[in-house]
Amino acid sequence: MDARYNTLFIGKVLKVYDILDSTNSEAERLLQKNKIPEGSIVYAKKQNKGRGQMGSQWLSGAGLNLTISLILYPKIDFPKEQFLLNQIISLGIRDCLDILELKNVSIKWPNDIYINDKKISGILIQNSISGKKISHSIIGIGLNVNQSGFEYGAGNPTSIFIEKGKTFELDKVLEILCSTLEKRYLMLKSGKQELLKEEYYKYLYRKDLLSEFKKKDGSLFQGIIRGIGPEGKLIVENKGVMESFYFKEISFA
Ligand code: BTN
Repeated sequence: MDARYNTLFIGKVLKVYDILDSTNSEAERLLQKNKIPEGSIVYAKKQNKGRGQMGSQWLSGAGLNLTISLILYPKIDFPKEQFLLNQIISLGIRDCLDILELKNVSIKWPNDIYINDKKISGILIQNSISGKKISHSIIGIGLNVNQSGFEYGAGNPTSIFIEKGKTFELDKVLEILCSTLEKRYLMLKSGKQELLKEEYYKYLYRKDLLSEFKKKDGSLFQGIIRGIGPEGKLIVENKGVMESFYFKEISFA
């Protein structure tokens, strides 16, 4: 695959592998060796140890989907601003799906992209901190493109093929994704935080709708997602009171 994308820096360096353990792991190895240009992408046609959130596996049919890691040097404050990265990456993936004319795409806090109630993409961000700043960030993205079925059920998966009934060239999808991710990253770089938040809220899964949640202690409650607080905590209204939760402290029941 050539890095001939019409972007300023995202995807200009594109390292393509037939097989890797995990693109995030390969990006870590590359960063240990050299400083590689911002926007570089590691892309594997197949991963045999694809990593998901919270130590889970990311399974993806060989040559069917996008499994990539993007390297950024965002220099934003940690932990105060770290969630900005989740926001821009989620919005960038959503924009790409929008260009491909997928309907009902939403962003499920904190790391998933959904079509209706099905997961089409997952994000795994690994930040490296220096002082109070994020010095580099490895952004792993799994986007289901041409897979026609999933034997494994986690997250109720779907793909672009399942939703649209036709296959897409992976190279083409990656080209669009590079440009939509870059557009969102440049918004962050130019201080458009408020606009990014507004748009993130616009697409936030089940925002302002009554949903059933489960807390870490197993207790269930009905609440309404109202937004995202400092450090990316989910703000849920519970009987008129606002509560906020870190990722592992709450899930949909
Ligand atoms: C999740 O939803 O659990 C996050 C999934 C992230 C998967 C991607 S695939 C490319 C990159 N390399 C990995 O090992 N994981 C991420």
